[in-house]
Amino acid sequence: MSYLIYSLRDLMSEWSDNEVSNLLLSFKCSADTDTEIFLKKKALNHESNDISRTYLILDGDAGNFAVKGYFTLAVKCLMIDDRADKAHEIYDQMNINKGVAQAYLLGQLSKADGTEKGLGKKMIDIALETFIEGNKMFGCRTVRLDCKNEPKLLKYYESCGFTPIGMSRDGTMHQMVAII
Ligand SMILES: CC(C)(COP(=O)(O)OP(=O)(O)OC[C@H]1O[C@@H](n2cnc3c(N)ncnc32)[C@H](O)[C@@H]1OP(=O)(O)O)[C@@H](O)C(=O)NCCC(=O)NCCS
Repeated sequence: MSYLIYSLRDLMSEWSDNEVSNLLLSFKCSADTDTEIFLKKKALNHESNDISRTYLILDGDAGNFAVKGYFTLAVKCLMIDDRADKAHEIYDQMNINKGVAQAYLLGQLSKADGTEKGLGKKMIDIALETFIEGNKMFGCRTVRLDCKNEPKLLKYYESCGFTPIGMSRDGTMHQMVAII
């Protein structure tokens, strides 16, 4: 499998607004429509406002591209509250200061309907490589993500090196971290 990765930021500077919007609007992910909605309705705004950076895996030829998958990276600290199991050995590596761990965020990860198995894992590898570049330049070693309460998905992220450290405050998402 070969992959062409495009930064949404670069596409926004090189393509017309219409071309970029049409590309994003063509994305379909039935397994998790929230990820589809993010790409269609929020990714451009988040990019313009420097909230996050989205990377697209594109398929096809110039003028006829389709999004096979995408992931979104950002920075978001992790609050370690009093409910946390402080004995968890991973906490020792997270540089927690006054209940806060600075962290990189893997905010979105999604592949289009019909895309081959394994693209998600490849995107995680690329995301971690990108964070490692950040780590070399300005530190921070914790990567976080929020995983839906779906046992298969939880197991999947564990197989990709993430450790669950508890539920989000509203109890809907598993908070997971990896150390780079
Ligand atoms: C997450 C994702 C990118 C992983 O892609 P991948 O590396 O190619 O791996 P797979 O698609 O085979 O998924 C891995 C496992 O997670 C499961 N899984 C993936 N998304 C899931 C979801 N939304 N709900 C429940 N299970 C899910 C798959 O069924 C699979 O389980 P299996 O190995 O027992 O068959 C891809 O499955 C996807 O786009 N899922 C929908 C979007 C999503 O849920 N993103 C995560 C939001 S927290």
